[in-house]
Amino acid sequence: MSFTVKDHKESKRVQVIQFKENDLDRLVFPFKKHSITSLEYKPFTRFSIAKSIDEVFDNKLGETLLKILNDRDTGTVIVEPEINNKKFDKEFLVKLSTGIAHLIGTPNFDSMSGKYYARFTVKHEDNSDSYLRKAYTNLDLHTDGTYVNEKTDWLIMTKLEEQNVMGGESVLLHLDDWEHLDTLTSNPVSSQDITWGSPKSKNVNYKVSHPVFFKDKNGKYNISYIDQFPEPKNMEQGLFLQTLSDSLEESKNKITFPLPVGSMILSNNHFWLHGRKPFIKHTGLSRELLRIRGTNFN
Ligand SMILES: [Fe+2]
Repeated sequence: MSFTVKDHKESKRVQVIQFKENDLDRLVFPFKKHSITSLEYKPFTRFSIAKSIDEVFDNKLGETLLKILNDRDTGTVIVEPEINNKKFDKEFLVKLSTGIAHLIGTPNFDSMSGKYYARFTVKHEDNSDSYLRKAYTNLDLHTDGTYVNEKTDWLIMTKLEEQNVMGGESVLLHLDDWEHLDTLTSNPVSSQDITWGSPKSKNVNYKVSHPVFFKDKNGKYNISYIDQFPEPKNMEQGLFLQTLSDSLEESKNKITFPLPVGSMILSNNHFWLHGRKPFIKHTGLSRELLRIRGTNFN
């Protein structure tokens, strides 16, 4: 097996997989066969790239990723490819992320971009309608897919590029590490249906309804929550959501770390929350991220 798996220095729940340059080199040729356009237009080509990646890693990578993602004790992997050479450019990273996504499941259609993935840049100035692109405010802990019909079992976030970046660290929290899980889930509002909508830029023209907390088949709590999109219908729901938001942000068990360019976070979206710290002000600030959200196979 030519990749290494180790614990992240901040938490044993987060596993780190490193790819060496000579293994990445073996992907350059198979990646050349498929353009980004063909990946976008022909879904089967994405599996072809996934297979090439798995073969470079002795057909053990997909298996290893699935094991970590579906294990309640872990559930998050950070993939760190050694991309110092310029040939491992953004196009290479889009293909690598695409292939890795197709080893763990099938991507959901991303309405924001109209594709199976989305790329978005955070800059000094912003006039958008959500917190996603606001550089200097905290992106609070949340899960993805709270306002869509598709199941979002996992997500991948790859850092494609950054310039003049200070701050903006990634923040993660495992639900079982959260000090307030018992208190909040014992509140009856936690299992009541709440309405979830979304702003214009998300291009989703319907609303959904689901509770914040629900139990999985093993009786463990899952969470589906983001601060901006629930539409509380009464004082009880409003106050519950406020308490939830405050007690997530004040958790002492958040994991905070800088994500290197080229690296990707793969996370189970049912029991891991993710967010981002504010960036430090810089007029030349630019950070580009790729995201893919998806569902498990079968
Ligand atoms: Fe997110």
